[in-house]
Amino acid sequence: AAVGVVGAPFSRGQPRGGVEGGPDLIRAAGLLDRLNQQGCEVKDYGNVAFEDVVVDEPIGRVKCVRAVGGANQRLSEVVQAVKRDGRTSVMLGGDHSLAIGSVHGHAAAVGGVAVVWVDAHADVNTPLSSHTGNLHGQPMSFLLHELQHEIPVLPNFSWIKPCVWAKDLVYVGLRDLDPAEHYILKLLGVKVFSMTDVDHLGVARVMEETCEYLCARVKKPIHLSYDIDAIDPSVAPATGTPVVGGLTYREGVYIAEQLSQTGLLSAVDLVEVNPLRGQTEKEVQATVGTAVDLLLACFGRLRSGNHPPGLPSETDKP
Ligand code: ARG
Ligand code: MN
Ligand code: MN
Ligand code: MN
Repeated sequence: AAVGVVGAPFSRGQPRGGVEGGPDLIRAAGLLDRLNQQGCEVKDYGNVAFEDVVVDEPIGRVKCVRAVGGANQRLSEVVQAVKRDGRTSVMLGGDHSLAIGSVHGHAAAVGGVAVVWVDAHADVNTPLSSHTGNLHGQPMSFLLHELQHEIPVLPNFSWIKPCVWAKDLVYVGLRDLDPAEHYILKLLGVKVFSMTDVDHLGVARVMEETCEYLCARVKKPIHLSYDIDAIDPSVAPATGTPVVGGLTYREGVYIAEQLSQTGLLSAVDLVEVNPLRGQTEKEVQATVGTAVDLLLACFGRLRSGNHPPGLPSETDKP
């Protein structure tokens, strides 16, 4: 597959510094070489250059509105360029507010998209429902058509066009929802596989149902937005808002493998890796290593093994 890697070293969607170091750390862990080794044709689009916004007073409770709006507008343009080059986009965050630009750019380039959001959190607060005022807890609210009447006018946000329908969104791994978020998801009838569902059904049924749900109707290209905090903090501790009781490493990789198998993965975000949130170098490396393994699985790496084309394969047995 042709892959385009976009680094988004941005942290203003939340208050903890360090998450802007994610893209370079994930590259340093060998992501591009390893994608190449497994047969991908990879182009690095570098890191998006974000303008620094100096005066950015909160609007109501919401913090860094202008910086987040401006950064996402730039990111959207780069993701559109990656898609127009015919590549699967891989956006390395940065905090999860970057999903605004990533999903927007993806949808602008290909038309309608389906979104699989793997996260401890739903990130669907509106600017008015958010208690923290952190925009990384709100990106889905700007993207969902059905929520637009709830979204106030914000500086640097007027370029955003909603581009996802509630029926084209699936959540996996949720375990920390604000009451308003739970209400929104119920009201819109969004498909949710919480950690309780993962416990009840097992990850295999969850992914079977996810893929059936998304593939049953018109097959839209899939945007996978993977927040590293979906994975249990014992495995991926270096992140800003860790929540106990998360996905195991194996469940996390399985989700990526199954989405890769659909053949519909068209853009991937890997966000919220924050080296400054690890207690030790080992914790940071475990988190970064997990992020790399999730991305390799998105691009066809199978734990059962792979071999280069040209040798007899599973699909062309005699
Ligand atoms: N629900 C909380 C909020 O709105 C936490 C969001 C955490 N989001 C994240 N991308 N880690 O602030
Ligand atoms: Mn999260
Ligand atoms: Mn509330
Ligand atoms: Mn998130």
